[in-house]
Amino acid sequence: MSSKQLGYEAIETASVDELRDLQFNRLKTTLINAYNNSPVYTKKFDDHGVHPDDLTCLEDLSKFPFTTKADMRDNYPFGMFALPMEKIVRVHASSGTTGKPTVVGYSQNDIDTWANVVARSIYAAGGRPKDKVHVAYGYGLFTGGFGAHYGAERLGCTVIPMGGGQTEKQVQLLQDFDPDIIMVTPSYMLNIADEIIRQGIDPEKMALRTGIFGAEPWTEGMRTDLQARMSMDAVDIYGLSEMMGPGVAQECIETMDGPTIWEDHFYPEIINPVTGEVVADGEEGELVFTSLTKEAMPMIRYRTRDLTRLLPGSARTMRRMDKITGRSDDMLIIRGVNVFPTQIETQILAIQGLTPHYQIEVGKKGNMDTIKVQVELAPEAVNENYDELVRKLNHKIKTFIGISCAIELKQPHELPRSEGKAQRVIDNRK
Ligand code: DLL
Repeated sequence: MSSKQLGYEAIETASVDELRDLQFNRLKTTLINAYNNSPVYTKKFDDHGVHPDDLTCLEDLSKFPFTTKADMRDNYPFGMFALPMEKIVRVHASSGTTGKPTVVGYSQNDIDTWANVVARSIYAAGGRPKDKVHVAYGYGLFTGGFGAHYGAERLGCTVIPMGGGQTEKQVQLLQDFDPDIIMVTPSYMLNIADEIIRQGIDPEKMALRTGIFGAEPWTEGMRTDLQARMSMDAVDIYGLSEMMGPGVAQECIETMDGPTIWEDHFYPEIINPVTGEVVADGEEGELVFTSLTKEAMPMIRYRTRDLTRLLPGSARTMRRMDKITGRSDDMLIIRGVNVFPTQIETQILAIQGLTPHYQIEVGKKGNMDTIKVQVELAPEAVNENYDELVRKLNHKIKTFIGISCAIELKQPHELPRSEGKAQRVIDNRK
């Protein structure tokens, strides 16, 4: 790392031509590795009538078949691996909403690459080797804790491996150890922030300067709220187990304008989720990733189900992604209108007196879909006119989203608290 360099590694600011060359070469190697060493991909490519030789430019990637969660499930647990088991040094798994978890495997080189992209992410978030990093992502099969941990260590930071849960203890350590950075889901940060305030601690007096928040969708309104409550900067980290874990993309502190995708390792495409066609940069659709350096489990055109769009580079040459609107599986269809929990979050946070502690209950009355938004009052709003708050929220949801819903105001701390990824939707229709 030279002192003049903007990022953690020179490639972050290489020219677009240099980046595309590197991507092409790495993509070719990845396709060959997948085809030769993963029986799943040999069959997929053969069935689709494509061969790694068909790749003559990056755009040719669109000729190759997608990989989906169903492929992972069908080959549970280790069938997607392209290396013999003795070369796999670690596995992680994400709890599928349906049935079996998705299992991912890493070679030693993959673990090194992962540590590097997370170190790069923390650096982009303004972290430096002198910093203390409090990790409150869960450790274990979930990739959050270990991913953050190895990355912070790689950067040279002091890691506080707290993990998720034990909120009072989190606050005690935040006070006693004075970390500069916290890595945690935004919904659990809210929970920790409430506890800090409950204990009468002034967040301004804490050393915490930056929160690196991810693993679930969160809105600009939530950023404003967390920054104000905690007197710190809040930046977005994105990732998914199938590609690596946290550190696939990271928002840069200089611009705070959506996560920069570490494109030298993860090649992004946006597709129309219905037709599967690739759409132009700037257009909304489903994010699809191809790994460019993973050895143990190459992933070709993995359909993330995350909805966003690609944006031009800003603080780095590499492209950015817009904040995720939601996952296609989280999309609620309420009387014919598509609704994402993040849209409701945006409206809640536009009203003073309401908090980002909310839950959405979906049901059915006869043939009609029903939706109820439960939202907690801010402590300073408990004596306000509830009818007026309900009217305001109803009006906003009707105007900006186009649906009517029941609204139930809750007292502070009445709703269940998240210690990891928040469960925003309870769907009683299933
Ligand atoms: O959540 C990895 C991670 C850990 C990312 C810690 C960031 C921080 P999975 O459990 O496999 O992996 O879940 C991946 O979570 O496809 C998105 O739907 C969602 N997600 C992750 N980061 C963000 C984010 C980890 N910054 C799934 N914004 C992804 C919105 C996110 N959604």
